[in-house]
Amino acid sequence: MIRVRRSGPLSGSVQVSGAKNSALKLMAAAVLAPGRFTLHNVPRIVDVALMADLLEGMGAKVAHVDDVLTIDVPDQMVPEAPYELVERMRASIVVLGPLLARFGEARVSVPGGDDFGHRPIDMHLRALEELGATFTASHGYIEGRAERLLGARVILEYPSVGATENLMMAAVLAKGTTVIDNAAREPEIADLATFLNLMGADVEGAGGSTITVEGVERLRAVTHTVVPDRIEAATYLAAVGMAGGEVRVHGARADHMEMLLEKLGSMGLRVDDGGDVLWAMAPERLRSIDVSTLPYPGVATDYKPLLVALLSVADGVGILTENVFAGRFKYVPEMVRMGADIRVEGHHAVVRGVPVLSGAPVRAPDIRAGAALVVAGLAAEGETVVANAHHVERGYQDLVGNLSRLGADVF
Ligand code: UD1
Repeated sequence: MIRVRRSGPLSGSVQVSGAKNSALKLMAAAVLAPGRFTLHNVPRIVDVALMADLLEGMGAKVAHVDDVLTIDVPDQMVPEAPYELVERMRASIVVLGPLLARFGEARVSVPGGDDFGHRPIDMHLRALEELGATFTASHGYIEGRAERLLGARVILEYPSVGATENLMMAAVLAKGTTVIDNAAREPEIADLATFLNLMGADVEGAGGSTITVEGVERLRAVTHTVVPDRIEAATYLAAVGMAGGEVRVHGARADHMEMLLEKLGSMGLRVDDGGDVLWAMAPERLRSIDVSTLPYPGVATDYKPLLVALLSVADGVGILTENVFAGRFKYVPEMVRMGADIRVEGHHAVVRGVPVLSGAPVRAPDIRAGAALVVAGLAAEGETVVANAHHVERGYQDLVGNLSRLGADVF
């Protein structure tokens, strides 16, 4: 449970952790080669611990000391992602590609639905089939087989982050050339490609919409530093927007958040790029804007609950349109309980700003929405109590500590 009271102005500086959505995939990629991997800037969060459990279940040894994660990958592994782990963390599915590539077989529990609505893995499977894998489904598991994957041209019908990653990690050990068209372009995908290339792979174009992978015979274990978490950085920017003040966000990369920074700028939040630090300064009151979520380089869907929180106290009416996930508005009724004026129509949320919110007991439905409710509490009279705070811990190393060091009344 996280308790928040109306706070501000915030001041001081905060350090952003490594990106959860990159660290998890790099950990999965370690399956591709035996030896000791060392990852720096790995956040100490529940999802990383779950991925470590998954790797250990397959036979690896994982240690996490401060922000350094070491993974000892053996020659033989049990190529399986069990129900208990996939159910708790859908991102486990990204072990499918690397397991098939290295061991020619993989058994992965079928992920269930979660709070984002139905999130299928059809694109992951179709893409791996294009490389010659075959799949059967039984007893809640998908079993994949491949004698030797063969490079192919694959056009993704949508730039899915997970499907692009699974395919890239399969293609690095396939025979021949794989071309991925309509690939996802997120900075975490470019980070994964950098990591794979360090391991000896030949991946070109990651970060753009066509990725070319020349398969190699084998890869080796390496050391790498994870890119900063742009969603965590955005959370502190939103906190300043909500509570006012002036804050420095260290470790954040403006070039990974350009569209968001442009949008925050149009709302009146001043954010200056000082190299590896962002200086954020809030006006008296933010202005409403319209904004749509899109695959990168568009405004990420993960920022959206934060934007809804900001719009809920901004001057005017703003419309948010969700184009990535169906039904990702579960936190709206919680914000309405806090006095926000939000109407959801299909994949649009119409937000009419109110001068101040009103603290209330609310429930975190997922990681980012949970963080957004905490941030909303900064501009709410009285006390907001966010239940199900374990969701927040899945993605943030120390959100409460970091916000309170900036002067927020949160514990
Ligand atoms: C990743 C991120 C998540 C982020 C999302 C979009 C991780 C661990 N998670 O999730 O935080 O919100 O990218 O930026 O990195 N889809 C299909 N079939 C598939 C795969 C996806 O229909 O086989 C659909 C999904 O239902 C969704 C859309 O494609 O509507 C985008 O999903 P995708 O980009 O794959 O997101 P994830 O990789 O699951």
